[in-house]
Amino acid sequence: MKPMPLVAGNWKMNGLRASQAELDALKHMIAEAPPQCEVLICPPFTLVGAFSAASGETIGIGGQDCHAKVSGAHTGDISAAMLKDCGAKYVIVGHSERRADHGETDDMVRAKAEAVLAEGLVAIVCAGEREDVRDAGKACEHVLSQLASSVPEGATPENTVIAYEPVWAIGTGRTPTTGNLEEMHGAIRAALVERFGAAGNGFRILYGGSVNAGNARDLMAVANVDGGLVGGASLKAADFNGIMDAYRG
Ligand code: PGA
Repeated sequence: MKPMPLVAGNWKMNGLRASQAELDALKHMIAEAPPQCEVLICPPFTLVGAFSAASGETIGIGGQDCHAKVSGAHTGDISAAMLKDCGAKYVIVGHSERRADHGETDDMVRAKAEAVLAEGLVAIVCAGEREDVRDAGKACEHVLSQLASSVPEGATPENTVIAYEPVWAIGTGRTPTTGNLEEMHGAIRAALVERFGAAGNGFRILYGGSVNAGNARDLMAVANVDGGLVGGASLKAADFNGIMDAYRG
């Protein structure tokens, strides 16, 4: 059975309290024309509580990162338990910007994902190759290796979502060809089935990197692409809602 697609917005370090107007607008757009997908917004930590209170039934709210521990002496960090306490249902872990800016390794990402699962939340585990890796013909090998080490043993289709995000496609306006995307998502699917058996078919594998209303339909139609992780185009309700058209009749 094909899993219910997920379209997730990653607001990154964007958004102030006034940005709740975008959430409210999106809520109305979705109520008027419900898409055949789950919708999620991951705002900065400062907005998770307010957004969770305001988002209603149709839009889920998630965090963009968490610490691997539940609590303790880790100044400035936020735990999965805290996100859950604020109403988050999902947590993105291992985004390439975290890996690059904060030196997060696969082992650290896996520990964070385990912390997410331990709280009963859903982890969105990200992986993706830099352009030099793709040019060297090692994109699939690299991504499969990242996922093998970043996805925890206890992962199931219910508690874990995979996000393929080629680093060179993030915020650049460039996307993989549908052929390259199909190859990568097919390879990820095969690796999940090899590791988790038949359950591997149930995991959602999102594509992320310069998804917008103009290209979403083509990208989301690729085999084994079960939704999107959207950065820039998720900040404005109208743009993000346009992406959801890929899942409207
Ligand atoms: P983008 O970012 O849609 O702005 O390219 C995607 C992401 O990093 O999740």
